Amino acid sequence: MGILPIFYAFAGLAALYALASRVRPNWRSLAHIPTVGGPPFPILSYIGTVRFFSRATELLEEGYSKHKDGLFKHAEAGRGWRVVVCSPKLIEDVRKASEDQLSFRAATNEALQASYTIGPSVQRNPYHVQVIRANLTTNESLSGIFSDMFDEMIHAFEKLIPVTDDWTCINAHETVIDIICRTSNRIFVGLPLCRNEGYCELNKRFTFDLFIGGLIVNWFPKVFKPTAVRLLTNVPNGICRGSNYLRGIIEERLEHEPGEKWEDKPNDMLQWLIDGAQGEERSVHALVKRMLVVNFAAIHTTSITFTQALLLLAAHPEHLPALREEVEAAVREEGWTKAALNRMRRVDSFLRETQRFAGLGAISMARKALQDFTFSDGTFIPAGTFVDAPSHSLHHDGRIYKNPHIFDPFRFASSSDEGTRYQMVATSTDYIPFGHGRHACPGRFFVAIELKTMLAHIAVTYDIKLERAGDPPLGRWIGASLVPDRKAEVLFRKRRD
Ligand code: HEM
Ligand SMILES: *[C@@H]1O[C@H](CO)[C@@H](O)[C@H](O)[C@H]1NC(C)=O
Repeated sequence: MGILPIFYAFAGLAALYALASRVRPNWRSLAHIPTVGGPPFPILSYIGTVRFFSRATELLEEGYSKHKDGLFKHAEAGRGWRVVVCSPKLIEDVRKASEDQLSFRAATNEALQASYTIGPSVQRNPYHVQVIRANLTTNESLSGIFSDMFDEMIHAFEKLIPVTDDWTCINAHETVIDIICRTSNRIFVGLPLCRNEGYCELNKRFTFDLFIGGLIVNWFPKVFKPTAVRLLTNVPNGICRGSNYLRGIIEERLEHEPGEKWEDKPNDMLQWLIDGAQGEERSVHALVKRMLVVNFAAIHTTSITFTQALLLLAAHPEHLPALREEVEAAVREEGWTKAALNRMRRVDSFLRETQRFAGLGAISMARKALQDFTFSDGTFIPAGTFVDAPSHSLHHDGRIYKNPHIFDPFRFASSSDEGTRYQMVATSTDYIPFGHGRHACPGRFFVAIELKTMLAHIAVTYDIKLERAGDPPLGRWIGASLVPDRKAEVLFRKRRD
């Protein structure tokens, strides 16, 4: 017998079970919170979900402008009407809440169905976050890895974007992701694997598979989830392919005892993870998954962000001279170093503004209430409610940003404030592309180094423009995620002036 009939029987059964288990009587407990995409009857949550999927930014904007200081709710797959969005005033409450109250980990785990797809240990013991903080993004380590990162980046640029007298047409997203995958993996696994096309292909692919896998598995009730992962997602296959690339390297490195002094010990993410791994984490399988998870968090986020920056620069090449002037002055003084990057305030501001103007999510700071919770304005939400902050609306709020719908690349560099308050990596209740508070992205200091170097290198090396002048193709929204335009192209040639 073929696999197909079993598959259909399984999917049909699961769908029935899912429908039956959806009609839960707990929706009333959020009746005091206004709704967008409603009315909020449980049986209509599928309609609300589809509405949110197709026009999330509109619904979020509607809620944001109607309920400026309070909260509103909407529906989302697997969550019914239990998703609450907080106004700017209440973001501070979300930041202050403990992990036992509003949990980052529970929210991400459910969104990605990570316990089922990648396994429960990544959530139970997120030691990679510590490793990123202690070994990747300290000032010292960032200065240390700079020259390797720069070397890899230049190598990738030479291969992918020729410096020629005539214009060359380059696919923006594809090229950016290739450069970032290689550059980041130079620091994650080193040479030669970071240049292996199959390995980079896998990391690109795996992010997508894990994300889609999460969406699929979310539709199934608990008992069917493990089977759904195996039959309907590519995640197990990705882990298996990851093993093919990493097994040999990891086995070799595991032969060294923890704490052993060892000549030529590699200084990369994989080694830091091995050094930080305790007990069951110190196995090939666990380490492969951990590496895939780090790439999952790192590659697409960074690539989409830079694709937006590149398209915005190509649409506004009039900003090139100001960037060049700054980069050349900094490099004259400091060479291509991390110290030079610290002087590049316009480059930094350009990227910060890119994330404000065209950041990759319409929401940020996703949390799940593990206990009943009361906001500082007195609003109550029961345990089990999901909470988000409306980053897209917040970043386009005229009360916070002057001319919010205009891309103003140096808006954060022109302030008289010479401090660190408006640096790309600085989060606040007004600026949340990296979240804010305890779980704010630990990779952002690395992102800043990587993306500032890329933007600076492009500015001093190439002239760039869009094929057709006008607004750049910044992608479209699917639910609250910004999906880049995969066809968008940018023209490059050797810099003329
Ligand atoms: C432009 C690129 C990036 C963006 C926009 C971004 C954004 C975010 C956001 C919004 C969060 C959640 C914060 C919250 O809910 O409060 C987060 C968490 C995280 N990010 Fe990033 N990220 C980026 C790049 C990276 C990179 C390069 C790495 C790894 C080197 C990384 C590793 C992580 C990890 C491990 C977490 C989870 C933190 C925790 O468990 O506490 N990210 N990121
Ligand atoms: C990584 O961080 C840990 C914890 O701070 C530290 O003990 C270890 O020496 C670091 N490893 C490297 C290679 O810097």
